[in-house]
Amino acid sequence: MQSYKQNIDLSNLPRHIAIIMDGNGRWAKEKGEDRLYGHFHGVNSVRSVAEGASELGVEFLTLYAFSTENWDRPQEEVNGLMELLIQTIRKEVPVLNKNNIRLSVIGDLSMLPNDAQAEMEEALKETSKNIGLNLVLALSYSSRWELVNAVKKIAEDIESGKLKANDINQSVLESYLATSNIPDPELMIRTGGEHRISNFLLYQSAYTELYFTDLKWPDFDKEKLFEAICDFQNRERRFGKTGEQIKQNK
Ligand code: FPP
Repeated sequence: MQSYKQNIDLSNLPRHIAIIMDGNGRWAKEKGEDRLYGHFHGVNSVRSVAEGASELGVEFLTLYAFSTENWDRPQEEVNGLMELLIQTIRKEVPVLNKNNIRLSVIGDLSMLPNDAQAEMEEALKETSKNIGLNLVLALSYSSRWELVNAVKKIAEDIESGKLKANDINQSVLESYLATSNIPDPELMIRTGGEHRISNFLLYQSAYTELYFTDLKWPDFDKEKLFEAICDFQNRERRFGKTGEQIKQNK
């Protein structure tokens, strides 16, 4: 079978792809298993997709691994997810290094259990010299948390005289976001059949192309990523301009 990879224009790759990995729980339930079984299999999709993005030369891949709201899930599932996270990171760091992938995190890391925080800090350090794909995990992240946090930091800097209200513009605001060193995503993928953004990169996705698939996350892999990128490359991105302006490069 021919791969979608051959149809991808490497000179027009999205620099940043963001993914809402949904459907693990339903995938497991269909198989008569508990939800954690789905998360466990979801790790294979994470590996495959990171590998695919890395092969192509995508610069940033952000995965919504745990939202601020996910803390409200049953304690057993939260504990299981944290444990899975720790084990996965421990196991995958050598693979990340082998593939020149740098790990980073956005979110309120202070909410994570101490061992998860320590494991994460270690993984960030151990992969910090890699210059290939930037794999960004959104952990205990939500856009509303991020915006409240940014406003607090801005207020503190105004109070201390470091910043003047009049100097605030778009790029100053962006420098206070968790994504200050990350370009806006050009493509956002959501698996699992739901058509919503669920508090993920709301500010950053102002002009992002959205791609929804009914496939549940454990059934998604690098080939499906290539398919989504082909779909993205067939779209016309206008950024508020007219189609004619875009064609004439004005
Ligand atoms: C959403 O499916 C998935 C999550 C909340 C967790 C995603 C976690 C992983 C894929 C595994 C760990 C990841 C890394 C990066 C190590 P859901 O539970 O909401 O599924 P449902 O909609 O079918 O209930």
